[in-house]
Amino acid sequence: MKIFLDTANIEEIKTGVEWGLVDGVTTNPTLASKVAGKGKDLAGIIREIVKTTPGPVSVEVVATDYETMIKQAHKIVELGSNAVVKIPMTLDGLKAIKTLKSENISVNCTLVFNPVQALLAAKAGAEYVSPFVGRLDDIGQDGMQIIDQIKTVFTNYAIGTNILVASIRNPVHVLRAGIIGADVVTLPFDVLKKLPAHPKTEEGLKRFLDDWEEVSPNGKFPF
Ligand code: E4P
Repeated sequence: MKIFLDTANIEEIKTGVEWGLVDGVTTNPTLASKVAGKGKDLAGIIREIVKTTPGPVSVEVVATDYETMIKQAHKIVELGSNAVVKIPMTLDGLKAIKTLKSENISVNCTLVFNPVQALLAAKAGAEYVSPFVGRLDDIGQDGMQIIDQIKTVFTNYAIGTNILVASIRNPVHVLRAGIIGADVVTLPFDVLKKLPAHPKTEEGLKRFLDDWEEVSPNGKFPF
């Protein structure tokens, strides 16, 4: 399972890449708006993200009509060979995905909330579909259930589109994505940091170091 960071914060991306945990990045206009303060060069920031990330970077169009989406998509792919165009799940969006697929442009279809939408995105030619599990949890549904259903539908028809689990809120979402066999999870930085943590790991490490200190003051390494 690939791990993407769901952020437009370059420092978070650099840190995640140094940890060796980042296979790609997803951004969206909300995440971009958080880093685009006064006097900040948003285009420059996105360019740096594309350059820094050792894998696909999804950059979203900010239009709802087909023609403008296509124009913006063509600008996005100029950012670098790893740039992926994020297109919303609408009729114009589906039309745009079909055109972009015919131009060999990689698309991530976003704002997917049920398996039929995912099927349509895949049929249009999306390389990734992004079902938003956390936002479904927020309204009292079990978001991960749709990941399970999408996996079944895609398996039924041998569909190669990647299931990119989005709107992840906690490590349990990641566990369930792995059990289902989702292709990608995209995580906020605070969820990424939680993944390696376990209280028994911390307790065990402390005990090893305390026990070693007993026989070797200052923790001197014997070799
Ligand atoms: C996906 O690509 C989106 O950027 C993201 O996962 C949305 O998450 P949110 O519901 O936490 O905003």
